[in-house]
Amino acid sequence: TVSEISVEPKVSGVSEPLLLSAVRGERVDRPPVWLMRQAGRYMKSYQLICEKHPSFRERSENVDLVVEISLQPWKVFKPDGVILFSDILTPLPGMNIPFDIVKGKGPIIHSPLRTAADVDQVREFVPEEFVPYVGEALGILQREVNNEAAVLGFVGAPFTLASYVVEGGSSKHFSKIKSLAFSQPQVLHSLLQKFTTSMARYIQYQADNGAQAVQIFDSWATELSPVDFEEFSLPYLKQIVDTVKQTHPQLPLILYASGSGGLLERLPLTGVDVVSLDWTVDMAEGRRRLGSDIAVQGNVDPGVLFGSKDFIAKRIHDTVKKAGNSKHILNLGHGIVVGTPEENVAHFFEVAKDIRY
Ligand code: CP3
Repeated sequence: TVSEISVEPKVSGVSEPLLLSAVRGERVDRPPVWLMRQAGRYMKSYQLICEKHPSFRERSENVDLVVEISLQPWKVFKPDGVILFSDILTPLPGMNIPFDIVKGKGPIIHSPLRTAADVDQVREFVPEEFVPYVGEALGILQREVNNEAAVLGFVGAPFTLASYVVEGGSSKHFSKIKSLAFSQPQVLHSLLQKFTTSMARYIQYQADNGAQAVQIFDSWATELSPVDFEEFSLPYLKQIVDTVKQTHPQLPLILYASGSGGLLERLPLTGVDVVSLDWTVDMAEGRRRLGSDIAVQGNVDPGVLFGSKDFIAKRIHDTVKKAGNSKHILNLGHGIVVGTPEENVAHFFEVAKDIRY
């Protein structure tokens, strides 16, 4: 009879990635773990690829290389998240802002944007047209990883992208972007709005092509005082989250801002599902200040990976204990530093995956 028909849980080959269950607050037996910048220069296998393909743009824009590099840490460490090998600046050429990454110097934007006329030249980003390799790579990654880990996409936040294109590269004092913000705010707002529309669309594109969660990097937002964060970053982050949640309500969004201790209470106002803490915030205090609805990621000091094996284990256990037994993704407080011993990274993952709540 009809009343006997029961709804069976959907059975698939492999169950859902641990990272997604943890973010939703489901019961998990350990925290999922991945590391920011887990693909990159600390790995010998990556350095070998760099020798053959010295251009960062090539390594990050060729489907086969992107897939191979993204999978390097996956093959060795089996993290619970596999992040796409790419850069926050990758969409820029598609917006009519060429860039390069120069060894020893970092990102270079040859023609920085400083005026209303410069901003007018910025085109809206159409991911399928300008970065088809990203969608293709994400699809391959999802098939390869097959739900044993979550495939992670990412984008740069509007303020952080603007800081690169206005400064012309990395910056110490952010004087150019602040000069724009504090003398011609409407020019900066129009640039931020272009990045906002474009990055919302880019997140949707990544999700449609295989990303199972997306991290938004607002690495430099904390260069702003809280009132300026509320004007130049927060509303745009919120707009991105609102736009993406309309089409992809289930997609977890993670927000990372380095040095965010002074802004913590404001970060959940963006509507993201996870806040990624840097190591200058105590995990237990961070948890309390963020509130219990939101998940947290982090926050072991990347420098800990230069310590002894016992020290690394101690710091992992300390962080996990302070984060509590739900809604925590174990990670570093920023990216892995060049020169980190690979065996210490391996040890980090072993210790982390042995944890049982
Ligand atoms: O996490 C991962 O493994 C995915 C790869 C990834 C890269 N960049 C590859 C990369 C991610 C997530 C990024 C994000 C990114 N890029 C951010 C936000 C994260 C953060 O660190 O706050 C920022 C600010 C950038 C801009 C950028 N690109 C910087 C500051 C640099 C370093 C410059 C240098 O020479 O040290 C890059 C280049 C870059 N992007 C590298 C990698 C592995 C190093 C250059 C190389 O491998 O040749």
